[in-house]
Amino acid sequence: MNNDYLFLRPNIQVEPLFDCWYAWSHLIPPATAARNLTERHLKIMDSYINSPQVHANAVKNPKLLGGPFIDYGGERVAEIAALRDQTKRMRPHLLELSAAIAALDDTLRTHAKGSSLQPLYNMTPDALKGYVELVYDLNNNPSFRFIEPLLYQSHYYDRSAQSFMMSVLTGDDRPFVLSTPRLASDSLFHLRIPFDDERVDHLFRLKSVPRPWGEIKEMLEVSEESEALVRSFLTPEPPPPYSPYRGRGVRWRYFGHACILLEMSGLAMLFDPVLSYTYQSDVSRYTYLNLPDSIDYVVITHNHQDHVLFETLLQIRHKVKNIIVPPNSGGFLQDPSLKLILKRIGCRNVIELNEMETLEWENGSITSLPFLGEHSDLNIRCKAASLVRVGNRSLLFAADSCNLEPRLYEHLYRQIGEIDAIFLGMECDGAPLTWLYGPLLTKKIERAVDESRRLAGSNFEQAIDIVRRFNSKSTFVYAMGQEPWLGYIMSLKYTEQSRPIVESNRLIQECLSQGLSAERLFGEKEILIEQIN
Ligand SMILES: [Fe+2]
Ligand SMILES: [Fe+2]
Repeated sequence: MNNDYLFLRPNIQVEPLFDCWYAWSHLIPPATAARNLTERHLKIMDSYINSPQVHANAVKNPKLLGGPFIDYGGERVAEIAALRDQTKRMRPHLLELSAAIAALDDTLRTHAKGSSLQPLYNMTPDALKGYVELVYDLNNNPSFRFIEPLLYQSHYYDRSAQSFMMSVLTGDDRPFVLSTPRLASDSLFHLRIPFDDERVDHLFRLKSVPRPWGEIKEMLEVSEESEALVRSFLTPEPPPPYSPYRGRGVRWRYFGHACILLEMSGLAMLFDPVLSYTYQSDVSRYTYLNLPDSIDYVVITHNHQDHVLFETLLQIRHKVKNIIVPPNSGGFLQDPSLKLILKRIGCRNVIELNEMETLEWENGSITSLPFLGEHSDLNIRCKAASLVRVGNRSLLFAADSCNLEPRLYEHLYRQIGEIDAIFLGMECDGAPLTWLYGPLLTKKIERAVDESRRLAGSNFEQAIDIVRRFNSKSTFVYAMGQEPWLGYIMSLKYTEQSRPIVESNRLIQECLSQGLSAERLFGEKEILIEQIN
């Protein structure tokens, strides 16, 4: 039996965790991880322990979707209390780091009034000394930046918080990742290895290349009592073979949300990888089984959890040759380096492409374009739209770009000319600033201010301006979070009356009335673009 050659089943969910909370990109940099630990995880756990029934009721209320409520029906207080206590015991340095960030902010607010910042280095909390530079902007607003690579080398970066939870997935419903920690149970296998461990690649290679059960058991350090469970995650049945696109031109396939695979003359490029697992469902979709063996470029548009999904990135890491990301602004708390984050989770060949920079290959290129807005007006540079050219065709992947200033696209048009197809997100309501960035704030923000600072993409007026500006023949609204398998990372449910649906319907109607093609993508879609010079 130890010699049976086995594959990993395609419906085995492998969630990356940080102290049992679903790991997303702010849980890797020590500073953002520390703030999320104290201001999100511990607060939500305390609240659940004090009022479990409030949480149980709140998760049933559609108006509170995406709120800070643990989705365990109020019944797992003892386990949550144990997780909270263990977190406090195991991560004192992160508690200290979080408090030090708040203290430094307070020092700057109180003492930095435009005069030299030099005396404030002495007042900087010890935990941060040597890891930060204090700065003003040109209007004497004080701030500080982290020397990020050094902080990763310190004891504040602790891989022992990282692990994976494996289980069988049979449907799309999963608890919301920002609110519900993952607790152990008999049907879950807790794989305690860090994200950069090479066994992660060995594990996911099992999706396409079988190995003997004896080897797998040893590799995953499966204990005797977990043997039957882990064995049930494996199968002797090989996956269906994948046939890469070998035709002329480009084939693009929509995998849901902003995840799009381009295949052209032997080159594969995958945008914002977010994959569903493979199981029976009413909504047809492409999954891991529809990826080529090798992906030349993964392109990430910006650092939001629905565009940088570790759960997918770690599954495909072994087949990815290069990852293109936008650079950050240099160490500010709200804008950590995506390149450093991805390197820390074990990704290789991470390339930063700056605004208006181009990377070329035979018969094609990708140019990074400015991406305004959708980040609550925070100084966050880690975001870019991408222009892909193949032969004489051009495709613009604008992700959640918000057209705050049409003149930007006027300038861009002069540089890049007309575009054949535009992919644009239109999540034009957007969550308020605190929904994602709240844990980074060290001073309470007024509700009205919070509500006005949203993570909002383009509305109809803003979107149609982009389409007209580039004379785009085809428009695809995407990245709307509507696929059912995205609920656990997006927590968004639209109706026909929701503004993003109303506004995107208007855009589609307007394009169609002009004789242009337009649609809102949902589920899966394949298009061949064959005429290429
Ligand atoms: Fe976004
Ligand atoms: Fe998004």
